[in-house]
Amino acid sequence: MAITNTSVEITINGMLHSLDVEPRLLLVHLLREKLGLCGTHVGCDTSQCGACTVLLDGQAVKSCTVLAVQTDKQTITTVEGLGTIDHLHPVQEGFWEKHGLQCGFCTPGVMMAAVGILEQNPHPTEEEIRHGLEGVICRCTGYQNIVRAVQYAANLTESSAVESEVAASNIHREAYEGR
Ligand code: FES
Ligand code: FES
Repeated sequence: MAITNTSVEITINGMLHSLDVEPRLLLVHLLREKLGLCGTHVGCDTSQCGACTVLLDGQAVKSCTVLAVQTDKQTITTVEGLGTIDHLHPVQEGFWEKHGLQCGFCTPGVMMAAVGILEQNPHPTEEEIRHGLEGVICRCTGYQNIVRAVQYAANLTESSAVESEVAASNIHREAYEGR
């Protein structure tokens, strides 16, 4: 029996995509094979390794366990949507500064899991970071530098939030003082 495709509208990395997809198509295959977003990797294909982690409406999910049709009208961020080479996302900067990556196969998924942790909790303790990273398995690193990278990103985000608050209060003060 022929399988009828389903129309979906998904915002991926800030761009709205209108697509016809097979109901059985996994999100990871939509991203990689139909949209060419190959930064999301397939490791185990059984929901254990986390290499396929993306953000779905701000929450880290394993895209090998999500059907593409389930993401209709939702927002997805993949590693390609995090930052640019000139403007790294704080988590990418953290991985760079703290050597949080090794061979790189699972690094995109680990970074997306890290972003998911910080989305839910911008000031995680070391224990909370380790707990949040439980769903990602990397065979070539030891996690300590990854934890440091997430701490770096949390501190960076906090200090830039403080800087923008200071800048905003300076603007208000200058406006108040008529400068
Ligand atoms: S490929 Fe999805 S969890 Fe391993
Ligand atoms: S970065 Fe190489 S296996 Fe994880």
